[in-house]
Amino acid sequence: MSKEIVLSGIRPTGNLHLGNYFGAVRNWVNMQTEFDCYYCIVDWHSLTTHPDTKELRHNVLRMLSELVASGLDPEKCVLYVQSDVPEIAELYLYLNMMAYKGELEKTTTFKDKVRSHPENINAGLLTYPVLQSADILIHRALKVPVGKDQAQHLEMCRNFAERFNHRYGEVFPLPQAFNYGNDLIKIMSLDGNGKMSKSENQMNTLYLADNDELIRKKIMKAKTDSGPTAPNSLKPDYIENLFGLMQLVSAADTIEKFEHDFNSCVIRYGDMKKQLAEDMVKFMSPIRNKATEIENDKAFLSRIIKTGSEKARASAQKTIKLVRDAVGVNYI
Ligand code: TYM
Repeated sequence: MSKEIVLSGIRPTGNLHLGNYFGAVRNWVNMQTEFDCYYCIVDWHSLTTHPDTKELRHNVLRMLSELVASGLDPEKCVLYVQSDVPEIAELYLYLNMMAYKGELEKTTTFKDKVRSHPENINAGLLTYPVLQSADILIHRALKVPVGKDQAQHLEMCRNFAERFNHRYGEVFPLPQAFNYGNDLIKIMSLDGNGKMSKSENQMNTLYLADNDELIRKKIMKAKTDSGPTAPNSLKPDYIENLFGLMQLVSAADTIEKFEHDFNSCVIRYGDMKKQLAEDMVKFMSPIRNKATEIENDKAFLSRIIKTGSEKARASAQKTIKLVRDAVGVNYI
């Protein structure tokens, strides 16, 4: 029996951070053996915010190195760069006819960008969810491992796929966001304001490339308060987030100790952060060191990109044939 198809993507707009890792990449790694997995570095998407493209090559290669260092195995999954697969752009064109201006304007990520960059409201930004849908549907994927912030884009993808199927006949299965735990994950920024992010809030985001000292410094500066005043109080968001990070990297008895201290109002956040910082360094430094080693092996990276693009294109071409036949743009 053939395995279910999985697709996910990441923008090469900066270094991988803990939100990317625990929200998405950890699932990508775990899914490699069980499913037929495609993972894509989405360089076209990154162009929507007009980055300096002189950095693009470096960013793509660093991202690829960090993904492999995190445990992605190019022998077990298809790891490729979006712009190597022009079939995605063709599918994006057909899907654009399935997407309505009103719904695109209402997308949360679009509204955020309009607020933060009013000088750059381009059509690529508006149709960002359509391009993302093309990434997913080009392999007719069923499962999409992503963090919570992508849930709306996935819902839009299902809508576009359904409209296409309704208009032209069944081509696409309807994909679902996926996480091995039940709920999709959101890792908050260390100051408790919003999510960890590749470009904003850099001192409050932990990047896999951060050195040990910087990891310690960022965690020691994380927002806390003077502690609970009544036993078994509800934790404020920013404290919950520190416990959440501990859940990801610390031993069970360590977490239990600090939970107990919190519930009995004797917690010392300084001690908690020191412990969290050491556990985080232990977790992150091997990935960082491995990524740097891989990044220096340019021949290895080129091989991954080449093999990945060949495999991704083979799958994409099959879908494009189905799409062209369904739409009726096949005249030979
Ligand atoms: P991007 O590059 O912003 O993030 C990559 C993945 O990391 C997750 N993530 C988080 N998860 C939890 N907490 C956070 N603080 C956090 N920050 C980021 C994201 O949910 C994502 O899974 N639009 C996508 C890229 C994309 C894509 C696709 C994803 C393009 N095509 C097709 C899936 C399928 C994005 O900007 O992700």
